[in-house]
Amino acid sequence: MNESIIQLIDVVKTFGDQRVLEGVSFDIPTGKTTVIAGASGQGKSVILKLILGLLSPDAGRIFVDGKDITRMRRKEFNGIRTNFGVLFQGAALLDSLTVFANVALPLEERTRLSHEEISAKVIEMLERVGLQGHESKFPAQLSGGMKKRVGLARALMLEPKIMLFDEPTTGLDPEKSMDIYRLFYQTQQQFGYTSVIVSHDIPKIFNLADQVIILNMGKVLIFKGAKDIQGSGAPSIQALVDKTMGNIYHSNELE
Ligand SMILES: Nc1ncnc2c1ncn2[C@@H]1O[C@H](COP(=O)(O)OP(=O)(O)OP(=O)(O)O)[C@@H](O)[C@H]1O
Ligand SMILES: [Mg+2]
Repeated sequence: MNESIIQLIDVVKTFGDQRVLEGVSFDIPTGKTTVIAGASGQGKSVILKLILGLLSPDAGRIFVDGKDITRMRRKEFNGIRTNFGVLFQGAALLDSLTVFANVALPLEERTRLSHEEISAKVIEMLERVGLQGHESKFPAQLSGGMKKRVGLARALMLEPKIMLFDEPTTGLDPEKSMDIYRLFYQTQQQFGYTSVIVSHDIPKIFNLADQVIILNMGKVLIFKGAKDIQGSGAPSIQALVDKTMGNIYHSNELE
């Protein structure tokens, strides 16, 4: 197994005359949690879209599982895409389908499992994410936190090697946000996926992060974790931390 499941090397991305990424390089370690942070508009979502092949870089290379996706044919890339599970902001559930049907969808579309087999897997997953008893509700009947759980359950159905989360706790109160992060931690322990989380909730999420990537003015700063950032005496980093994150939060709440 590769030590790094994703690698960006000197990635440049511009939109018109706006340079969003000015030569960004980092590795995402396999089986660990990487948090991508930074102020609004710095290019966090753009990075996720580049990794997913929804955008192409102007320059640089992006490796997924040792293969350069920027030089790949569509067919080969579609194979790579099956490694990813994605939870976007708002969870992107299908409003006309029940919780059960939303979670069953990936298995119905991508596998040849029988109805009984799918049903058993869906029920098991809904239990894992704490949604038993809510199978027949529609998205409009769910709270924000429940929607995120459904989105997570659906993303995990095909047992992805890599989970990408874009602002997964937007719109949730602090307690519900912690519940969601706890659930990420638990499911990651169970499934062993590599986790990439874009988040503004930096203080809360530090306990989860094996690596923190801070995006600022087209460049990245890479830290091993909260202590590494706090320990950095550089005034520019401290200023950035103050500006983008506020106080750093200490607790073992996720354990
Ligand atoms: N498809 C696009 N076309 C043109 N500009 C884009 C496109 N996608 C992103 N941008 C621009 O790139 C910059 C970075 O956008 P991005 O969505 O990555 O920000 P972000 O860091 O995710 O911010 P937020 O925290 O608000 O979600 C923004 O200025 C945005 O307007
Ligand atoms: Mg974004």
